[in-house]
Amino acid sequence: MLITGGGSGIGRELALRFHALGNTVIVAGRRREKLEETIAGQQNMHAMVVDVEDPQAITPFAERVIAEHPRLNVLINNAGIMRREDLTSTHDITDAEQTVVTNLLGPIRLTNALTDHLVSQSDATIVNVSSGLAFVPLSGTPTYNATKAAIHSYTISLREQLKGKVELIELAPPAVQTELTPGQSTREGYMPLNDYMEEVMTLFQEKPTPREILVENVNFLRWAERDGHFDEVVEMLNKM
Ligand SMILES: NC(=O)c1ccc[n+]([C@@H]2O[C@H](COP(=O)([O-])OP(=O)(O)OC[C@H]3O[C@@H](n4cnc5c(N)ncnc54)[C@H](OP(=O)(O)O)[C@@H]3O)[C@@H](O)[C@H]2O)c1
Repeated sequence: MLITGGGSGIGRELALRFHALGNTVIVAGRRREKLEETIAGQQNMHAMVVDVEDPQAITPFAERVIAEHPRLNVLINNAGIMRREDLTSTHDITDAEQTVVTNLLGPIRLTNALTDHLVSQSDATIVNVSSGLAFVPLSGTPTYNATKAAIHSYTISLREQLKGKVELIELAPPAVQTELTPGQSTREGYMPLNDYMEEVMTLFQEKPTPREILVENVNFLRWAERDGHFDEVVEMLNKM
């Protein structure tokens, strides 16, 4: 199992918990020291440095992963960044560009680089990490929300195209206490990481695995439009 962004937050917890269930896990990200912390003292856990923002890095990285772990059959596209953006005047859009490259092109490129390999494996699965904000936008992070809505849509197309070959699962977290944005790991009203992960792992172990891993706290976002609450939820989110 390969988990991008496995050096911290949700990715690290997924890595440790899937490893505890008996999986060999490779964690990948830019900061080697964070990856080493994740795998410290564990057998069958490996750390590999990659910057998913760098298009030149992804194919060689995927080739190395396959060469070193030829039985790899699960990819978790978890790496992501979230930046605030002020759209009220013409501004430097570097944050928007980096967000699209990391959160959207990163998973597209890495999935593409691993598709032939995954299709050749039994029980192959791709998990794409979206967000509750894919379904209702938080106006302060417009490009972030847009990349997550795009990953939701892309996952549905991939699921159809790879039907019978690779299973596609979407993990859509609510607000969780991690270091995704400064101060978020202690922010009130955000779900403690451990509570989130307990619920997530229970859902992952349902048979069959749900197509979307949705904890209770994300349902008000996921189903806002279907349930006729979309405008209210947009307003509520943006007051926060
Ligand atoms: N926490 C929440 O409230 C929440 C809610 C909804 C969705 N999510 C999603 O959950 C995923 C994990 O986020 P998190 O909350 O666990 O935050 P986090 O701790 O900041 O994790 C993000 C991870 O992505 C890695 N990453 C970022 N840019 C990268 C790049 N260019 N190349 C390789 N790795 C990169 C980071 O490692 P390096 O910096 O070492 O590269 C980091 O380990 C993200 O996709 C996020 O959008 C989180």
